[in-house]
Formats: sequence, structure tokens, C-alpha cells
Amino acid sequence: MVQAENDKAQLSGREGFGTTLGVIAATLGSAVGLGNIWKFPYIAGENGGAAFILIYLACVCFIGLPVMISEFIIGRRANATSVGAFKKLTPGTPWFLTGLSGVICAFFIMFYYTSVAGWVFAYIFKALNGNIVTGDPKIAEQIFSGFITSVWPPLIWQWIVLFVTGAIILAGVKNGIERITKTLLPILFILLIICVVRALTLPGAAEGIVFLFRPDFSKITEVTILAAMGLAFFKLSVGLGVMTTYGSYIGKSENLIGTGIKVVLADTLVSVLAGMAIFPAVFAFGFSPAMGPSLLFITIPMVFNSMPFGQLFLIVFFVLASIAAMGAMISLYNSPVAYLTEERGWSRITATIFTGLLMATVGGTATLSNSLLADVKIFNMNLFNFYGYLTDNLMMPITGLFIAIFAGWKLTRRAVFDEVTNSGSLNNRSTISFYLSAIRYVSPIAIVIIILNGLGFIKI
Ligand code: PHE
Repeated sequence: MVQAENDKAQLSGREGFGTTLGVIAATLGSAVGLGNIWKFPYIAGENGGAAFILIYLACVCFIGLPVMISEFIIGRRANATSVGAFKKLTPGTPWFLTGLSGVICAFFIMFYYTSVAGWVFAYIFKALNGNIVTGDPKIAEQIFSGFITSVWPPLIWQWIVLFVTGAIILAGVKNGIERITKTLLPILFILLIICVVRALTLPGAAEGIVFLFRPDFSKITEVTILAAMGLAFFKLSVGLGVMTTYGSYIGKSENLIGTGIKVVLADTLVSVLAGMAIFPAVFAFGFSPAMGPSLLFITIPMVFNSMPFGQLFLIVFFVLASIAAMGAMISLYNSPVAYLTEERGWSRITATIFTGLLMATVGGTATLSNSLLADVKIFNMNLFNFYGYLTDNLMMPITGLFIAIFAGWKLTRRAVFDEVTNSGSLNNRSTISFYLSAIRYVSPIAIVIIILNGLGFIKI
């Protein structure tokens, strides 16, 4: 309690997270989201399962985690949002552009993320009405595609999502972000375990587990490696300054490396649980693991359909999925709002409304790319897929590269040591040397090679 008060005082007038648990809950709340239960399973499914997951884990460990710790360091050191942090630490240099590109990236992610979150919200109501409870795979598919190819319903749900997130943002960091995530994440975890148990007891479940855990490296190409790295950035919410801004809310007595490790472990556990809930069902019901973004929405209703109180569980599942999405969206929405208020002097309400309107209008194009705008293609992708490709494979890795170079080479050794040891009071030698060698050498070199290789500029 006293500790928390001290921490708050050290944040010199800016609002921050109140407790250690609050720090973990909010950062984990940003990391855990649709990425675990929607994106991780479908991307792993498209890329052959276990072998892809191993590469993903390597990217998490050697790129995602070090970049996350760096963002915490930069944010807490400067005690400013991501753009302001670079300005404060290296005044008069172009480094602030790293922060700015992160803010732009947050917009692009929100364009399609809110669209998917809208599907999740809609599925709560469809589950309530019993509309999506079916034991027939064909009908499950039709319900989903009928919904996303319609014009108004998915668009309105996307706007509702934005409205709710905007309202929480207006409530502020501590009351809004911290309180909601702290209470609800544990419930999601428990429900996921119930899902896993049910999925594992389906006839034919074993094949899904084999798919998830037995690697077949012949499926790995340069493109899948790029996708694995992109997923690591997306999953951990790193490479766009969201964690820099959250770092600035973290009190001086928190252990930054320890926080990073805990968040990464918990996040990965949730993804693996989601995979264990979904893949057995995919195989048991004869779906293709490579069916793409619809995977979650088609398999989960079928998983619950065949069990007692299935409809109730289904409702709770989508409620929790929407809450998980909310933690992530809050951190994304907060990024431009924090920039506009703290750097540009806008009022919180104007910044929130402006950001929301921009996300609603441009974000609408992602939703409509399944209907009215289906023919609009960029590099052969519809707008929904394009926003995802651009952010995962280019914007986050490139911004992440600059964050790594900044933390590894630009910040003074003294500053980095101060932050990771809390001015010498923590004794964590081995994790510090892992962090330093990763951030100076492994992460930047790996990011460059994976991007160039994935885009076909070099061949390894
Ligand atoms: N990590 C979030 C998820 O898995 C998505 C996200 C990406 C949130 C980038 C913030 C920043 O759903």
C-alpha cells in the first residue's frame, strides 16, 4: 500500500498504475486479446501448426520479450508517452519519429481489430438468442459468412465497440484500464480451461493435438517465418509504443524485466490453451485448420453445442472474448489519445472523440471489405487483410527494430542499468545479460534478416 503511494508520487503528477498487480494486469490486458483466441490459432492453422509455433516461440523469446523490456525502460525513464519519451531522452533528434510511426500503427491495427471485436460482440447476442447453436458444420459456416458479408450489422457492431472503448478511455488510466483488466482476466483463463477439457473429450480430438504439438518443418518457408515474427509483435503488443506508454505508468520500484517475463509467459499460456480448445474441434468436426479468420467463430459454437449448458457457456465465452479484446483495444486507443493530450495539449474528450471518429470511418473500410468493398485490393489483399499484413509484417517489426537500436545503442549503459536494476537494488545479473545481448545483437539482426528474407530481397 505504502509502496503504491510512493510509486504514484514518483510519477510526478501524471496518472499511473497503482499497484504491482495493476501493472501486470494492464500490460497483460493489452497483450492478451483477440490475438490469442482468434489470430494465433488461425495463423498457426494456415502455417502448418507445431513447426510454426516453435518459430513463433523463438521470436517471442529473442525479439518480442527484449523489445517489450526496452519499451518499459524507455517509457519509465522518460516518464512520457511514446513520442514524448524519445523527445525527452534524445531532444532535437529524429528519434521521435519512432514514437510517431507507432501511433500511426496503432490506428491501422484498430481499423481491423475493432471489426473483429464487433463480430465477437455480435456473437454474444447471437448466442443469447440461440441463433448460432448448431451441430452442423455447414450451418455454422453459413451463419458466420452471412453475417460478415452483410453491410450494416457488422459496421454497427464495430462502432459500438469503438464507443464502449472510448468511454473507458475517458474514465482514465487507473479507474478505466486497471480496474477492468484486473477483475476479468482470471475468469477468461478459467473458461478457456473448460473449453479445453470439452474439446479434448470430443471424438477425434487427438489429431488436433498432434497438429498443435508435432512439428513438420517441411511447411516452413520464408513467408511463414515473417508471419511468426509479425505474430510475436502483435501478440505482445510491442513495436508500436503501446508498451512504452504503459512503461511510463509503471512505478519506480517495479521490476521491469520480471514484469516482461511474467507477461510473456502468461500470454503464451493463453495462446496455447486457445489452440488446445480449437484444434481438436477443427479436426473432430472436419474443418480445415487453414480456413483463416473465421476459424474461431465457426469452431467454438460447435464445441459448446454438444455439451450440457452449452448455450450458457457459449455466451460466457464470447463475453470474455470481448473483454479480452477490450484490454487490447484500450491500449491501442490510448496510444493516440495519450499523444494528443500530453504532446499536443488537446483535451482528453476532444482527443478521444477525434480518435474514435477516425477509427470508425477508416476502420469501416476493413469491415466493408467483406461486402461493399470486396473488390478493392491492395497487393492482392482486401483492405482487412492489408491492414493486418502491413502492421504485422512491416510497421511493428520496423518500429521494433528502431526501439531495439535505441535501447541497445543509443541510451547510455548507466540509464539502462538504472532501469533494469532499479538503481542497483535488484540483483538480476543473468536476466540482464540475456536482455542486453538480445537487444544489442540478436533482436536487431534477426528482425532485419527476417524482413528481407520474407519479402524476397535475400535468401537464407
Ligand atoms: N496483443 C493484442 C492481442 O493479442 C493486440 C495488440 C497489438 C494490442 C498491438 C496492442 C498493440 O490481441
